[in-house]
Amino acid sequence: MTASYPNLRMRRTRAAAWSRALHRENVVTPADLIWPLFVTEGKAVEEPIATLPGVSRWSVDGIAARAKEAAALGIPCIALFPNTPAGKRSDDGAEALNPDNLMCRAIRAIRDACGDGIGVLTDVALDPYTAHGQDGLVDDAGYVVNDDTVAMLVDQALNQAAAGADIIAPSDMMDGRVRAIRMALEMNGHTNVQIMSYAAKYASAFYGPFRDAVGSRGLLKGDKKTYQMDPANGEEALREVALDLAEGADSVMVKPGLPYLDIVRRVKERFEVPVFAYQVSGEYAMIEAAVAAGAGERDALVLETLMAFKRAGCCGVLTYHAAYAARLLVG
Ligand code: PBG
Repeated sequence: MTASYPNLRMRRTRAAAWSRALHRENVVTPADLIWPLFVTEGKAVEEPIATLPGVSRWSVDGIAARAKEAAALGIPCIALFPNTPAGKRSDDGAEALNPDNLMCRAIRAIRDACGDGIGVLTDVALDPYTAHGQDGLVDDAGYVVNDDTVAMLVDQALNQAAAGADIIAPSDMMDGRVRAIRMALEMNGHTNVQIMSYAAKYASAFYGPFRDAVGSRGLLKGDKKTYQMDPANGEEALREVALDLAEGADSVMVKPGLPYLDIVRRVKERFEVPVFAYQVSGEYAMIEAAVAAGAGERDALVLETLMAFKRAGCCGVLTYHAAYAARLLVG
């Protein structure tokens, strides 16, 4: 039972800043953030990405510097994505298995710069390495084949773990890949390397700027609908999450973020496991476009969206605004 007006006035507890602080149900701290970073070849290179204003690709030295910056801000983890040179992309994405590829060099540089002071999450999928921009191997009909792709992903994950990755994050949506990667990690001594699976990843129109950033947009013919999920589906996301957990995922991710907070909430309530969300490139670009158009104020938009993730049940959020937000939060 609850009182009614005027004995109950909901505005009472909102009347002063101290009281709002006292009654706040959720908090966002820098420790909630994972910062995605794009790696490119060269030395002292910073390449701005036109469709992601404020985000750049960095050469390996710059990535190490960003990792140090993140650690100093209290951001616990960064996520790496390579912009593989065109000459190293191939139909089978073999560069993903090269122990000296951009990703592996970036991991080692971060280790040299930060030691264990920051977590390194690495994306497992072939799209930054394939000449066709799909996340896996394609057959003659252009279909992305599952089982042969999984075999590649296992080797890709082992390559990243050997270079020092802390969290393997398969973003490919192949069936059975979490179990295969978990078994391979166990058998190769990487018992403490985590798996954060992109468990509910949708075939979304919000990934465009990311594909520019990793150079796959122009290469990709068609779409990814034979492996990424239909945005119409919610129950299917719960099945995907259940499977990945059964296969050995330590945590799961929902992607994109804000348009899919209903999925975050359902996953959290059903499974009571760490759930992360990826506020993807198109979501970042929408906020920046709103700011540029004078339609909103950046600091408030960034903090409000991050709070929405926490309220929905997220353990943490991958966001291109991570360093920006951390500065607001600690400043
Ligand atoms: C690759 C991958 C994508 C994203 C993360 N990993 C793109 C895609 O699936 O096409 C998107 C991230 C973003 O848009 O910020 N498998």
